[in-house]
Amino acid sequence: MLEVSGLKKRYKEKTVIDQLSFQMQRGEIVGLVGENGAGKSTLLQLLATIMQPTEGDIQLDGLSYRNDRKKIRRKIGYVPQDISIWEEFTVEENMLFFEKLSWKRRSKEQCRQLCLDMQLTHWKESVQSLSGGMKRKLNLAISLLHDPMLLLLDEPTVGIDLKSKTEIGTYLHSLAKNEGKMIIYTSHDMDEITHICDHVYSIGKDPFYTELLKGKGVAVEVIA
Ligand SMILES: Nc1ncnc2c1ncn2[C@@H]1O[C@H](COP(=O)(O)OP(=O)(O)OP(=O)(O)O)[C@@H](O)[C@H]1O
Ligand SMILES: [Mg+2]
Repeated sequence: MLEVSGLKKRYKEKTVIDQLSFQMQRGEIVGLVGENGAGKSTLLQLLATIMQPTEGDIQLDGLSYRNDRKKIRRKIGYVPQDISIWEEFTVEENMLFFEKLSWKRRSKEQCRQLCLDMQLTHWKESVQSLSGGMKRKLNLAISLLHDPMLLLLDEPTVGIDLKSKTEIGTYLHSLAKNEGKMIIYTSHDMDEITHICDHVYSIGKDPFYTELLKGKGVAVEVIA
């Protein structure tokens, strides 16, 4: 279970996140919506332990982000908004390189299977020859190497075609429902969000997304 309470993040004099609280259970997918600059990536970075909050606390399965950061890191998979893989290496070389850095040992076949699970079949191809959607799939596969329980995905489907989007959505759904992972992801695609998420949270002051989703009959909660 993830519990976020009274979270605040200030960059110098600018407060981006204020009094943000929510909870989620294993097996749930949460969608985060909000205008550009609302603080979605900031929230994911706080949850990924990359930044410290100005105030507030986060707990993951009873472990506090204040006291147990090392243990918590092992339970988190994070894919940043900007793709971060080795462009000049093949898919195979990327997977095997990141497996070496991972906390969990995986065989070559298991690494390959992680890619195949989301229809990434270009094992021997160099990353620079892959499409944007395939690169996003590879980044996602890398984030799963250590079998994290909490998966934080910053716009995992931006700029990719409907087929890849659907494949990623189906895969995320199976990770949550069959393996009990908690998934939080951001997207500006409201159809996708409404389709695969159990809960949709809106952050930021602009009511645009909240109204849009309510108009589609989707329950959306404003969390900060
Ligand atoms: N490291 C930083 N230092 C100072 N300000 C920052 C920093 N990172 C983000 N900000 C500011 O915090 C606000 C929220 O940024 P953030 O990237 O979290 O928004 P976002 O909701 O992810 O937006 P987008 O939809 O464009 O990805 C923005 O005003 C941004 O300029
Ligand atoms: Mg962002």
